[in-house]
Amino acid sequence: MSKKILVLPGDGIGTEIMAEASKVLRFLNNKFSLGLELEEALLGGAAIDAVGNALPDNTFALAKEADAILLGAVGGPKWDKLPPADRPEKGGLLRLRSELQLFGNLRPAILYPQLAGASSLKPEVVSGLDILIVRELTGGIYFGEPRGIRELDNGERQGFNTYVYSESEIRRIARLAFELAMKRDRRLCSVDKANVLEVTMLWREVVQDMASDYPDVELSHMYVDNAAMQLVRAPKQFDVMVTGNMFGDILSDAAAMLTGSIGMLPSASLDANNRGMYEPCHGSAPDIAGQNKANPLATIMSVAMMLRYSLGLEEPAAAIDRAVSSVLDQGIRTGDIFSDGCTLVGTDGMGDAVVAALAE
Ligand code: IPM
Ligand code: MG
Repeated sequence: MSKKILVLPGDGIGTEIMAEASKVLRFLNNKFSLGLELEEALLGGAAIDAVGNALPDNTFALAKEADAILLGAVGGPKWDKLPPADRPEKGGLLRLRSELQLFGNLRPAILYPQLAGASSLKPEVVSGLDILIVRELTGGIYFGEPRGIRELDNGERQGFNTYVYSESEIRRIARLAFELAMKRDRRLCSVDKANVLEVTMLWREVVQDMASDYPDVELSHMYVDNAAMQLVRAPKQFDVMVTGNMFGDILSDAAAMLTGSIGMLPSASLDANNRGMYEPCHGSAPDIAGQNKANPLATIMSVAMMLRYSLGLEEPAAAIDRAVSSVLDQGIRTGDIFSDGCTLVGTDGMGDAVVAALAE
């Protein structure tokens, strides 16, 4: 039976990087006769402009039906004046994550040896880096109620959000992280702010309680400020990190820089049955949108994660991994990872190079 892939390019560079990721996916679909059916729909600002809603009903219906979703990026200055709930981020992306219960966000930060020079850290500090950040994606302060901006009696405005996690939410993300750690180096670091925030005191307690189910995993706990420091001081100490929604958002951007560029970080957002949405960790980058400058590799590597995690297609996934490595070996670089002696290409040139490597 054919599998349905919903493609949501979104806004800004989303359309450009998705064109390249689709190119790669279509090529593999033919080469390996995967029988994938690609369908495209609107999400975010593009959907607001077209139909007045960041997550149109038909996009949502297709998303519920799809076997997997590929997403580019959403948002941009054009829609920043809208009420928060209607913006591309909250009304489109976060609603989709939440409605589909995609609580498990996997963000692998891997340093390709060819890019050691592009990292912001010294090569000896980052060479061989292979971290998996497991970010809780449908709870925490991103979704907690009450939230808003209210007026106080003295006429001053006050913004407020609520940071909440229930035990079951903590348990399911921790279980996913323990299971993933079992398949890797069996070291799990849970990141919290348990010296101050009650919600993460509970987080730490629940994660610690689960450790007895995974005697082979070495569990540690770290405060988020220290974790941020350790990521830029000695990142190779980490194997799998598990944390809440907001801390994971921040730490994964920091980890991305270690790999040379945020344009190199793919992600998978999974529900309890491994159905998922796959997207680069970077945003819509309005400053370079439409200029053929964006690095499509994070999205192309997200395609590999999709094939692997949601579709169980290891062979084409591994082919993408090898093709990306081969392109980097050839010195082909977009601007964000460029260094002297390399060949500078645009977004489309990078996509073409990956397809050419796949064709070999
Ligand atoms: C990410 C992004 C999103 C987030 C934004 C666009 C809402 O930064 O996926 O990391 O904060 O989750
Ligand atoms: Mg982010």
